[in-house]
Parts: sequence; C-alpha cells; structure tokens
Amino acid sequence: TVGNSTNIKWHDCPVDKKKRQMLLNQRGCVIWITGLSGSGKSTVACALSQILYQRGKLSYILDGDNVRHGLNRDLSFKAEDRAENIRRVGEVAKLFADAGVICIACLISPYRKDRDSCRAMLPTGDFIEVFMDVPLQVCEARDPKGLYKLARAGKIKGNICSRFAGFTGIDDPYEPPTDCEIALKCEVGDCASPQQMADTVVNFLE
Ligand code: PPS
Repeated sequence: TVGNSTNIKWHDCPVDKKKRQMLLNQRGCVIWITGLSGSGKSTVACALSQILYQRGKLSYILDGDNVRHGLNRDLSFKAEDRAENIRRVGEVAKLFADAGVICIACLISPYRKDRDSCRAMLPTGDFIEVFMDVPLQVCEARDPKGLYKLARAGKIKGNICSRFAGFTGIDDPYEPPTDCEIALKCEVGDCASPQQMADTVVNFLE
C-alpha cells in the first residue's frame, strides 16, 4: 500500500536522472527559499534564475503565490493547508530535480517541520535551504502588496473561506531555520541587493 492506494508498482526507465543531467550538463537540485512575506524571496529567485540562464543552466521557479493560482488553488492559509501547499510543491520540486532541472521554490513555508519533510524527500545535498533573514520591521515597511497593513487592521484573519488563517509574522508564526545551507541576512538600513544575494547562492552551488 502506498498512501491511500493499493496494487501500484514503481516503474523505472533506462533514461534516468544521471543521463538527463549529462544531457543538460548540470545537476538537478532544489533551492528552497523561505522567509516572511516581503522578504524578497521571489525577487532573489528571479535574479538567481537569470544568472543561471546566462550561464546556460536550466532552472525553473515554483513561486508560492503563482502555484496558488493553479495546482494549489484549493488551499487556504490555515496550518494544515499551508502544510499541504508545501508538501505538493516539495513533490513537484523533487520531480523537477529528477528531470535534471535546478528547481527554485520560493514559499513562505513558515513551519520548520514542513520544510524538513521536503528536505527528507530528496537525496542528501540536493535540497539547499535559503533563509531570507529579513526583520519583520523591514518586510512591513516594504509592504509591497499592502498585506501587512490589512493584517494589522485585522482584515486578513479569518477572511479566507472564513477559516482561521492569520498573516505570517503578525498573527501566524514563522519558524526560522536552524540549520539552513544559506542565510541571506538583512538589517534595518543595511541590505544586500537581490543580485548580490543571488550571487551568494551561485557561489554556494559552484
Ligand atoms: S505558505 O505559508 O508557504 O503556504 O505561503 P505561500 O504559498 O508562499 O503564499 C504566500 C503569499 O500569499 C499571500 N498571502 C499570505 N501570506 C501569509 N499569510 C497569509 N494569511 C496570507 N494571505 C495571503 C502573500 O502575498 C504571500 O506572498 P509573498 O510573496 O510571500 O509576499
């Protein structure tokens, strides 16, 4: 039995990950960018994808916000739905890595255990956790979508399908990584550019 299914068998194909990686001349992996809303996850993901593209490396971004427009449109922001959101993206990211692609997943992914489950799906070394270590104060000052303002006004809580779904950092927790591969630290008034942050990730990959 696998999950809720019985009588299913795994099929292998001689064209495997190793062959695909040779074809692409790169190593498939997952770069998992976690952090508060407004911490710069999507911006860094995009800068990173651009550098990789210029170097002839194939990457693909799985952005939480975007994936919630399709694959995960049935999910809210309550804890169990966030967990399912992250699990699904983790599984898709694993498929991309198996395809030989450098998959860049950028989701708030606020709970440590959900991120750790994604890490556990991949071979050691193939899951690179990048923490956008940006103070709430900085994210809230940026407030690119005006969501912090709404959250402070109490207008987000319970809004989504009338189930509890607090806003991360305000009335829903964010658990920072304790053992991530890369921490991109920002202080109030002292933040590296998205380009510099993406360079740090590329240096790590090299
Ligand atoms: S999670 O927690 O990993 O499932 O979230 P994610 O899929 O990355 O989606 C986060 C984006 O959704 C918007 N949004 C919220 N974020 C946090 N909490 C609540 N309640 C919420 N409601 C909507 C928000 O714009 C997030 O986008 P980013 O890009 O992180 O700012």
